[in-house]
Amino acid sequence: RPTTVVAIDGPAGAGKSTVAKLLADRLGFEFLDTGAMYRCVTLAMLRVPITPSETNALQQLASDLQIELSGSVVRMNGEDVSDAIRTPEVSQAIGGVADNILVREILSDLQRRWASGKRVVTEGRDQGSVVFQDSRCKVFLVASPEERARRRVADLAQRGIDADLQSVLDQQNARDLADYSRPVGALIKAPDAVEISTDGISMHQVVDKLERLVQARL
Ligand code: C5P
Repeated sequence: RPTTVVAIDGPAGAGKSTVAKLLADRLGFEFLDTGAMYRCVTLAMLRVPITPSETNALQQLASDLQIELSGSVVRMNGEDVSDAIRTPEVSQAIGGVADNILVREILSDLQRRWASGKRVVTEGRDQGSVVFQDSRCKVFLVASPEERARRRVADLAQRGIDADLQSVLDQQNARDLADYSRPVGALIKAPDAVEISTDGISMHQVVDKLERLVQARL
């Protein structure tokens, strides 16, 4: 079967996961959260522990790691790490993992194999620009920093974590800088991607837009 990919990229907090999941449900496609893969490698690294500067050990760790994604369940070497990969510790340490070019190659291969022969809505930073360059339907999802930080605070509150807006905004700025300036796999809008802002519109309205885009492009 041919592989069909809808690639959604954008900064943290723009609403990619929510939108990608809803869109996948509507279309009857599978959902691929590539950030979860980077989070798994980071969690494994923190557990050993090693630092990103130990590049050989980090690359070995990434290539040995068995990562399974199905729906929103994430397994690492058989263990359900769906919650463990979403802690602030993992989010803070992820930059050094995402900067490693070989780790990116390993995870990009895994993403392509995962999608092979399927119909997929994928989300990340480099899905349209690097991993699935051939995709006919690419979206670059953006929102203002304030809106994204407010959403992140609400998100954390739902999970029982109390966070203040300013510190979330500071962390977000740091992560944006890292994401936009990475030498390989930087967050960038592919030339053929459609940019959509999620400011001031509901996620369902965003999904409506995307559904029309998919119908026009696929
Ligand atoms: O999407 P999420 O916030 O879970 O991604 C966590 C981090 O993983 C991002 O900030 C980015 O550094 C990295 N990432 C990446 N490439 C992807 C997906 C995520 O570098 N395709």
